[in-house]
Amino acid sequence: MLPERKQVLIVDDEPNLRKILSAQLSRDGYDVMTAEDGERGLALLKEHHIDLVITDLKMPKIDGMTLLKRALEEEPELPIVLITAHGTIDTAVEALKSGAFDFVTKPFDKDEVRQIVGKALRTRELRGADATSVSTGGGVRFGIIGDSAGITDLYAVLERVADTPTTVLITGESGTGKELVARALHEHSSRKDKPFIKVNCAAIPKELIESELFGYERGAFTGAVSSKPGRFELANGGTLFLDEIGEIPIEMQVKLLRALQESEFERVGGIKTIRIDVRLVAATNRDLKKLIAGGTFREDLFYRLNVVPIRLPALRERTGDIPLLVEHFLVKFNERLKKKVEGVEAEAMETLVAYPWPGNIRELENVIERAVLFCDTQRLRANDLPPEIRGIPAMANVSLSEADLQAALAGEGGLKEHVKVAMSRLERELVGRALQQTTGNVTHAARLLKISRKGLQLKMKELGLREGAVDKGE
Ligand SMILES: Nc1ncnc2c1ncn2[C@@H]1O[C@H](COP(=O)(O)OP(=O)(O)OP(=O)(O)O)[C@@H](O)[C@H]1O
Ligand SMILES: [Mg+2]
Repeated sequence: MLPERKQVLIVDDEPNLRKILSAQLSRDGYDVMTAEDGERGLALLKEHHIDLVITDLKMPKIDGMTLLKRALEEEPELPIVLITAHGTIDTAVEALKSGAFDFVTKPFDKDEVRQIVGKALRTRELRGADATSVSTGGGVRFGIIGDSAGITDLYAVLERVADTPTTVLITGESGTGKELVARALHEHSSRKDKPFIKVNCAAIPKELIESELFGYERGAFTGAVSSKPGRFELANGGTLFLDEIGEIPIEMQVKLLRALQESEFERVGGIKTIRIDVRLVAATNRDLKKLIAGGTFREDLFYRLNVVPIRLPALRERTGDIPLLVEHFLVKFNERLKKKVEGVEAEAMETLVAYPWPGNIRELENVIERAVLFCDTQRLRANDLPPEIRGIPAMANVSLSEADLQAALAGEGGLKEHVKVAMSRLERELVGRALQQTTGNVTHAARLLKISRKGLQLKMKELGLREGAVDKGE
């Protein structure tokens, strides 16, 4: 699936300007439409989904100011950038007051246009962020980014259950945002000023988990020199988030079940019953049904937790959200790393969308952070992405295949011959990788491999690699 490209509409009566501007914006990865006057521009706005308008002010039929006003009547959030000639600054200022996003003066600078367009589109996306209860049709809500069916369904569930005492069980692969959702549930409830307490059930040693959860009284065990409240008590009035609930020892599960059902428990070594008011959210990346079948998870506890199940889709099931997430992480890491990466080239975006993301959003976040850090161009290019994302296979093992091994041991061919086969496979792999990394530049690849250019050419011939066979990228 191709990433969604932003649709830009250029309205100008000068054919030359339309041509230059649309060529530049297409190169920057936008889909472009053009109109020769305001009337045609408004017609296109009605027929198509347009993300941004760049319009001239002086035009026949309907001029830029009128276009601006009418377009904003229809769609108040639409970013409109005006092109003004020298001496019309006053009109430009008036346009800004009427809701234009910004203006550029003719003759304009390529980079200036690029910057304004990028900023306008980002602003439009981020505007979704403060819409908390009205549906914006996607973007960001509850601090969770997405526009896909899976995420809009999630918004609907969050809206309904956030401010209730109901127990929620969040499932999903690693890095799909389980903790983010747990925190969103808390933040959007009337408990938000009370504590949000997280317990990672996988990280606490089995023998300590009971005292961690429920606390202990002095003298309950060796070393218990004073009494201490557990996480349940600390979360009183707020939310308790039991992460990796699938890892909780089976012996603990009955006690947990009782605490949940009765809203009461005793500290370890204590006799006093403590009552609490806690909203419980649990999460796991395990298939609890399988654990139940395997006898390591209690079915009754499962039903107690699974009152409202939330299943977070893997990123590969909602690739349509990738451009949105990438944009979000770009803004985040530009800020954090003091960089000014403005966007992502189409090829790089296609690569990001095609990759299956086993580590989901966390992996995407890490990849973008790294790419932003190393990017020294205005837009991220495919080359800024790590090789595994670009589908370049990991280095082959230097071992023989099982078939080769069997053949060798069956006395077919000698030791030398088999080693030679394995070595040439390794050479091929290394040479191929070096060429890919240097986008087919033999001189650079030779430098990486610390051999002469001539030597590399000979090696390539010997290995049957043609010069120019490796995709040169751009
Ligand atoms: N929809 C989203 N929008 C924005 N950021 C997201 C989204 N989902 C996840 N993230 C970010 O991805 C990272 C991983 O999310 P989180 O820690 O919630 O995942 P998890 O499911 O708890 O993972 P694990 O199972 O490995 O603990 C976090 O930095 C989180 O902010
Ligand atoms: Mg987590």
